[in-house]
Amino acid sequence: MLKEKILKAYESLAEEYNAQIDHKPHNAYYDRPSTLALLEDVKGKSILDAACGPGKYAEILLKEGALIKGFDLSPKMIELAQRRNSNASDFFVHDLEKPLTMFKKKTFDTVLCALAMHYVKDWNATIQEFYRVLKPKGKVVISIEHPFFEYTYFKSKKYFEVEPVKCTWNSFGKPIEINSYRRPLFEIIQPFIDNGFLIEKLVEPKPVAEFQHLDPKHFKELNEFPAFMALRAVKGS
Ligand SMILES: C[S@@+](CC[C@H](N)C(=O)[O-])C[C@H]1O[C@@H](n2cnc3c(N)ncnc32)[C@H](O)[C@@H]1O
Repeated sequence: MLKEKILKAYESLAEEYNAQIDHKPHNAYYDRPSTLALLEDVKGKSILDAACGPGKYAEILLKEGALIKGFDLSPKMIELAQRRNSNASDFFVHDLEKPLTMFKKKTFDTVLCALAMHYVKDWNATIQEFYRVLKPKGKVVISIEHPFFEYTYFKSKKYFEVEPVKCTWNSFGKPIEINSYRRPLFEIIQPFIDNGFLIEKLVEPKPVAEFQHLDPKHFKELNEFPAFMALRAVKGS
């Protein structure tokens, strides 16, 4: 099953991911600046960090005065998120594809899900749960791999399908196979609309200046073609 492979991969790369996350160019200087901008002013806001990884987003948002709960499929990631942040009980192991039964409806101002929705095959149940736990006018912010980038990168022949794909990550000490689901643009936008959200903002980010000296090759490429995109959706009522 794909989920077991995904879990195994993240368990094995968690320590190294955590060691790199503060300055890893694609995260620190490409994904996070645009995704954090979509969150706007977070002071006093209750935020669910879904698939929080080692808790880097939580660390930044807590410093800005947000109230955070975070979960992840990987127990090692949760251990690291607890170590990085003060209140360990705010971070727990949970699967994005399972109902968020630990939270009442209308609990959060915002749900953040950075670089993780591509591990979920059918987005409807997950987005319905985001809707349920959000307060009226609450917002979801997600970042994901750009569908046009993935179509090319994975040499897909089936643009319109949601299909399992895999690649090898080489920047975490040893080669690690990463499995995920590639999907067309329609399958990113429509689940939000079908489940009561309005898309407020869509961003195709460019890397910020700090990226350039760390990784000039990808800096050039990302200024020519996007690898990630992000969006903010608001709960309709
Ligand atoms: C690329 S990392 C992103 C971590 C964090 N959001 C960030 O941007 O720093 C993807 C994370 O998604 C988690 N993940 C994958 N599938 C998941 C699932 N079904 N439920 C919850 N977390 C999942 C992985 O364990 C990993 O920590």
